Amino acid sequence: MNDIPTIRVGILGFGTVGQGTWKHLQENSSFWEKILAVRLVPVRASVRNLNKERKVLIPMESLTTDSNAIVDDPDIDVICELIGGIEEAKKLTLRAFSHGKSVVTANKALICEHGEELFNAAEKAGVHYAFEASVAGGIPIIKVLRESLVANEFPLIYGILNGTSNYILTRMENQGVGFEEVLKDARRLGYVEADEALDLEGFDAAHKAVILAYLAHGLWVDLKSITVEGISKISNEDLEAAFALGYKIKLIGVIRRNFANNHISVGVYPALVPVAEIIARTDGVYNGISLTGSVVGTVVLTGRGAGQDPTSGSVISDLVDVVKGIRGMNSYSKLIHVAPEECKLAQAIEICGCYYLRLSVVDKPGQLAKVAECLAEHEVSLATVSQSPKGASASANIILTTHETNEHSIAQAMKSLEQLGGVKEPPVLFRIFDPGPASR
Ligand code: HSE
Repeated sequence: MNDIPTIRVGILGFGTVGQGTWKHLQENSSFWEKILAVRLVPVRASVRNLNKERKVLIPMESLTTDSNAIVDDPDIDVICELIGGIEEAKKLTLRAFSHGKSVVTANKALICEHGEELFNAAEKAGVHYAFEASVAGGIPIIKVLRESLVANEFPLIYGILNGTSNYILTRMENQGVGFEEVLKDARRLGYVEADEALDLEGFDAAHKAVILAYLAHGLWVDLKSITVEGISKISNEDLEAAFALGYKIKLIGVIRRNFANNHISVGVYPALVPVAEIIARTDGVYNGISLTGSVVGTVVLTGRGAGQDPTSGSVISDLVDVVKGIRGMNSYSKLIHVAPEECKLAQAIEICGCYYLRLSVVDKPGQLAKVAECLAEHEVSLATVSQSPKGASASANIILTTHETNEHSIAQAMKSLEQLGGVKEPPVLFRIFDPGPASR
């Protein structure tokens, strides 16, 4: 593997997402070699201030204040534009295209404003302009719309496209805290964009809605001609009143197409969403997008819509696609995360969890004790017990839950219970699923 080629990545903007991209590219370097048969290496990053303290430490000589120098560097193959803003980012992007370099971006404002021009310029230059990270951070919505759901037309796409405003509304609703107070916390936690109106007045969500509308319908919508409202008028009283009516107030982006007359409407505004909708139950900094397709029906994606790791994951996903393009690989080739010799199927004794058991037993003194003793012999400990008589049949149902044990022990215990005197029917066992911290 020593003679494999190297693809060098230049990062414009070394803030939250830029640093995350560098960190994850480096941490998983052997992984890229495995799936792409190239070294995918971050080599330079541009910053405004060389001396600013940063969490991700990189060699000083890799940093520059001159983004053009990175774009022009003949040793750099691919550019990640993560500086945000419009004019400078646009110039740098076009400059990278003119050098035949593909660009990966998270810049929703730029695409919303100049997407058409930039996509055309990329096509003309024969390069990629990839923007998965621009909408909903870690949620792979761009790929889903462009690739996975390509067989569909979309009468409705709607959802929460701004994590900061969703965090504020969720805390106001759950804790009864006022808007101003939660906003202070959101600022302290670094959630709020430098230009606060982007988050609070709905413009950030509107940029993303415009991009989704383009991807779904091929129409570039002018931001100035759509409804864009933010969350600043929402009071705790509104949230409570809406909830009493069976709704949650969420800041949503809504893209509708009427296929009868082919009219498309796009808007971002606070709306009462029925509590039964997954989007209504998408809380905190999470984003959620519901896509109703003509073929698939409704698909809902929820997840982290911002933050270093989720967003840089999307940047890297685009980088991988760009590299595959450069290498002429098809998108399904070599998607192997771990070599077969590196992982193996877990043994029953390693698979741990809690269990629910229903036993039909004779209703006589000492029966419950016999069941508990049988379980104890297999080191299965009871967490809860309840018993209900089964009418006149002199039998009872015992419902048990266990403390944590493992698949091996519980299987052995089940065999013993089946043979145990007084157990009238084969016991019924269900696993108590614990999604664990990984799902939150
Ligand atoms: N300010 C944005 C949000 C960041 O809160 O969702 C991600 O685009």
